[in-house]
Amino acid sequence: MKILMMTSETVPFAKSGGLADMVSALSLSLNEQSVDVRILLPLYGFIDSKDFDFLGSLQIDMVNRFETADLYRSTLEDSTIPVYFLDNNKYFNRKGIYGPTPSSSYPDNAQRYSLLCKSFIEVCTFLDWIPDVIHSHDWPCGLASVFLKKAAQKFSNCSSVFSIHNMGYQGCYLKQDLPWIGLTPEETKTYNMICDNQINFLKTAIENNDHITTVSPGYAREIQTLAYGHGMDQSLSHRKNDLTGIINGVDYQSWDPVNDALIAPDNFSILDLEGKKNCKSRLQILMGLEENPKTPLFAMITRLVEQKGIEELCKPNYGILEDFCKDQDVQVVILGTGEPWCEEELTRLSRILPNLAVKITYNEKMSHLIEAGSDFFLMPSRYEPCGLNQLYSLKYGSIPVVRRTGGLADTVSDPQDEGWDSATGFVFEKADPSDFGLALNRAVNCWKDHPELIHKMQKNGMNKDFSWTPSALSYMKIYEELRTPLNREIP
Ligand code: ADP
Ligand code: GLC
Repeated sequence: MKILMMTSETVPFAKSGGLADMVSALSLSLNEQSVDVRILLPLYGFIDSKDFDFLGSLQIDMVNRFETADLYRSTLEDSTIPVYFLDNNKYFNRKGIYGPTPSSSYPDNAQRYSLLCKSFIEVCTFLDWIPDVIHSHDWPCGLASVFLKKAAQKFSNCSSVFSIHNMGYQGCYLKQDLPWIGLTPEETKTYNMICDNQINFLKTAIENNDHITTVSPGYAREIQTLAYGHGMDQSLSHRKNDLTGIINGVDYQSWDPVNDALIAPDNFSILDLEGKKNCKSRLQILMGLEENPKTPLFAMITRLVEQKGIEELCKPNYGILEDFCKDQDVQVVILGTGEPWCEEELTRLSRILPNLAVKITYNEKMSHLIEAGSDFFLMPSRYEPCGLNQLYSLKYGSIPVVRRTGGLADTVSDPQDEGWDSATGFVFEKADPSDFGLALNRAVNCWKDHPELIHKMQKNGMNKDFSWTPSALSYMKIYEELRTPLNREIP
């Protein structure tokens, strides 16, 4: 089976969030099942390409112009999975993925990503390799299914799968952009691409892919409702027979405290938690906090955006963080970048609260030490399609405190739901600071009064297995089912 992953991010080359982890880990797992999987993404300016192989120059027909793009090839980590990079100086040679800073966008993103979406035709032709399935991810790859339909003559046996990682980002653009994205006004109607009078990349994907997946069963249900559908609930309900929720796995090669090189020499396992204690004291020293094993250490690693519950956390005169740090004998560590107001507020709070440490930066190595050295991990998300950090923290014995939504609800169980024998974290219902605060207090009280139950939850979590294989098999089942001949109209 031949699968082309089309994406705007994949680790280790380009990452803004969990999408990048997911694409690479799923590809590695499919490869283990002997799938011929290949990845296509832009060659952004920050990717070091000096060791990549130059394959050739392509002319991509964007209807109102031809764009020249050079094709480079590398491989994914230690595998043989080919990663193809599309190099177009004008569109991709930039220092950011979607914008110059994490919370901004480039004004020509419609043009940039339509070029990526269109390019698979020339890339596959050049490689003389036609996939069985084009599996594209999130709004940047939303137009691929339309270009696939338009190229049905050549790609008659190729199906399309689209994974929704986040409904909150849809790629909405003015109709004036149409000539630049290689489509006509008539085609926007034919392919049902318009929402609120704008071209909507995500809606286009929902309407035109053969199958749609999202990254947890819970989120698959939620997005068909008004509250979580971000305006797409009806389109999604309409396609509910072609919509599957598959939970993301974890790449345990990178995220397992037993062999995580980024926390060495203090590796640890469920049988010997000594290394975790050392990680905690290293983390406290690194963050300038009092080195004290008895103080419960709460952590958060996140994009600082509304989705992640940052208002409930620290919006002035609303969020819980300041009172929590003042009222309780706890320590809090936050690593993240994002909305300027939030970066500023967290920095301000860290100056006045000695038990709060804040790092406004993106730092992979630090994120591993935080998972390993913390006792509790905070994810008060307003919505969470899957969430990877709660899965990492389960493995690292850092008990998640999460809101009951999407993938968080699917992966963390509260003692009040299923009893202590299977409890792995503290779960709260409402996206408001008081509900969040109650969950935090439950965690602190349990730490103080019932260390044996804390230990039990830690063990339950560390015993959980979210490896990729079962999820990769679910994707393969979908790919297989699509292999039955398609009755696609040939234009
Ligand atoms: P999302 O994709 O919505 O951001 P996920 O939980 O799926 O949320 O994935 C986030 C990923 O990005 C995790 O691997 C997390 O560790 C990482 N991450 C987010 N912010 C930072 C940061 N400031 N430094 C290091 N890693 C980060
Ligand atoms: C997204 C979601 C997150 C998910 C990730 C990978 O950006 O916000 O919940 O884990 O994609 O699928």
